[in-house]
Amino acid sequence: TQGALWGGRFSDGPSPELARLSKSTHFDWQLAKYDIAGSRAHAGALAAAGYLDEAELIGMLDALTELERRVVAAEFVAADSDEDVHGALERGLIEIAGPELGGKLRAGRSRNDQIATFVRMYLRDHSATIAEQLETLVDVLAQQAEHNIQVIMPGRTHLQHAQPVLLSHHLLAHAWPLVRNLDRLRDFDRRLDESPYGAGALAGSTLGLDAVRVARELGFTSSSPNSIDATASRDLVAEFAFIAAQIGIDLSRLSEEIILWNTKEFGFVTLHDAYSTGSSIMPQKKNPDIAELARGKAGRLIGNLSGLLATLKALPLAYNRDLQEDKEPIFDSVETLELVVPAFTGMVATLTFHGERMRELAPQGFSLATDVAEWLVKRQVPFRVAHEVSGSMVQAAEARGVDLDGLSDDEISAVSEHLSPEVREVLSVDGSVATRDGRGGTAPVRVTEQIAELRERLASL
Ligand code: ARG
Repeated sequence: TQGALWGGRFSDGPSPELARLSKSTHFDWQLAKYDIAGSRAHAGALAAAGYLDEAELIGMLDALTELERRVVAAEFVAADSDEDVHGALERGLIEIAGPELGGKLRAGRSRNDQIATFVRMYLRDHSATIAEQLETLVDVLAQQAEHNIQVIMPGRTHLQHAQPVLLSHHLLAHAWPLVRNLDRLRDFDRRLDESPYGAGALAGSTLGLDAVRVARELGFTSSSPNSIDATASRDLVAEFAFIAAQIGIDLSRLSEEIILWNTKEFGFVTLHDAYSTGSSIMPQKKNPDIAELARGKAGRLIGNLSGLLATLKALPLAYNRDLQEDKEPIFDSVETLELVVPAFTGMVATLTFHGERMRELAPQGFSLATDVAEWLVKRQVPFRVAHEVSGSMVQAAEARGVDLDGLSDDEISAVSEHLSPEVREVLSVDGSVATRDGRGGTAPVRVTEQIAELRERLASL
């Protein structure tokens, strides 16, 4: 009966519908290499504790090497009778090493501590891959910022023209959240650095196995201090799902802007042909599909996080089979990001920005009104009054259907006793950005420093 792993107390095999529901080999097979690595370390611990002699240990390790070869070559695959990857691999081991030796490996471990360990190993590997991909994206944003340092664009709040800013400053505002995500991944890896292997089903084992030794062999600094927590918790899996969702959200926000910038109305960017798509009916179309897919997949990443949190809520200690439901969402989040980030990076790297168009729009919508108010403040006018005066100047310009610099000298003077035509000195977008020169400001000198600071942070991660 099935039950390669647990048949003993059952007189009947699992019903076909139970077997179908219970089966996880179609998704947990990708943990096979971690399972085999765990088995190697576990064999060492069994030998050290006297449960395998020298020859048995060598035989076991050789058999595991052969098993791994077969798995990689797809010579050994999941059978219909296998419930999960752990049971399947024990079946494979016994095929190679025989039931006598192969049957010894399971002592002192449980699928509960195994799976908790393998999920950590999987997340560790893939979060490193995702971090590398994100670093490339941050670097590409920094390069675009450097390349376009002279471009001034309309900075917006509420999607309305607010104040002119450097395009570079805006692009870097998308890079910093990604740097924080990189920092989160690194921080997450520190918490991940404890191996649950040795926790057994929940309470440890009576065999005196050295869990720290196993942990070290699997690349962890130490083993979990509490065997119940080790097998029952998935907060770290949820933490990864959050980071993945946050990365998705951050890419989605830039995607949304690229989609807008790419419209006829904005005309801020041109997408490279290799990073855009066409229409099956409209010959002229060139669509920003990468940005749209990135935006769409953010929803999926959020869904993976919410689903997982809902699964974890109210689970009593220790292991419950519900925990098997952590795998598919987390695999999906990993696969989604590993697919999206490189395409997104290529799209950003090959974007052409239209500086002239951005500059043309930058002073429109009275975006220099704050500069007028601060010009008055520098002349000792209280800001409350300065705000009012600048607002009246906007009103006058709006009534005439011109921008602030379209008002005549007389019209400017007529707005308020505090105003004079000298205010024209701040009615330029270049002056506006150049004078916002505090730390974190949009002045070219500060933004150039910011690019260097970003690169330093990236290098120090
Ligand atoms: N496949 C399970 C999981 O992903 C591990 C197996 C534990 N099964 C059990 N009956 N205790 O969590």
